[in-house]
Amino acid sequence: MRKKLFAANWKMNLGPVQARELVRAIRAQLDPQFATLGKEREVMIAPPAILIPAVQQELAGAAIALGAQNMHFEDQGAFTGEISAPMLKAYGVTHVILGHSERRHIFGETDELINKKVKSALRHDLIPVLCVGETLAQREAGDTTQVLTNQLLGGLAELESHQIAKVTIAYEPVWAIGTGKTATPEQAQREHGALRATLIERAGRAVAHGVRILYGGSVTAENVDSLVSRPDIDGALVGGASLKADSFVRIVRALTV
Ligand code: 13P
Repeated sequence: MRKKLFAANWKMNLGPVQARELVRAIRAQLDPQFATLGKEREVMIAPPAILIPAVQQELAGAAIALGAQNMHFEDQGAFTGEISAPMLKAYGVTHVILGHSERRHIFGETDELINKKVKSALRHDLIPVLCVGETLAQREAGDTTQVLTNQLLGGLAELESHQIAKVTIAYEPVWAIGTGKTATPEQAQREHGALRATLIERAGRAVAHGVRILYGGSVTAENVDSLVSRPDIDGALVGGASLKADSFVRIVRALTV
């Protein structure tokens, strides 16, 4: 059984005071439930890099993992403005979002670059959350499956099956991110199923069935239940709705029947 993962991507939002308040408000609601909730689901919060130390402090003793939104693939060196896997690890980070559509489309990240980052994450025992997703134009042109396959195989290039087993995938259709337009559970399940089929071909059935595939794109407290109840939707990667304690906590408590 794959444990569902509910992940917050705060993107470039909040300052240190607000970040601490938000974590405290989330913990006040979730901590008492973790004995039961924690058996079947995991929670992760990815703040902006500069807030990682503050959030790490606020998460002390909590059953909530700390994530980063991006990183460089080298361990150190002359890469002005960048942050490496060992630096993230030093602050208790366990997950790193890689290849988010905003990184791909605003900052020009390619599958080749993202693949280097995935390899660095694995080398340092960080869990990569590899994001894939088609634009509206690609969907309308009928290219969705090909785009997703290329991004998935590109991000996982040269990895062995036992390494692929450690990766989490996030399907985030670009047209659904921050737009209020969610993929329907049927649409999302179709793409998740296709991604898993590609993983089966690439890494074998056992590995593919263990890999979590999250859905992201306008997930809210209102629509999360119907999404994560689908067989291949193993959790959610949440932007806007993760910035309020009540909505994020409700998302974490999603009914998954
Ligand atoms: P929204 O939930 O704001 O649409 O963002 C989704 C996302 O990009 C999470 O990584």
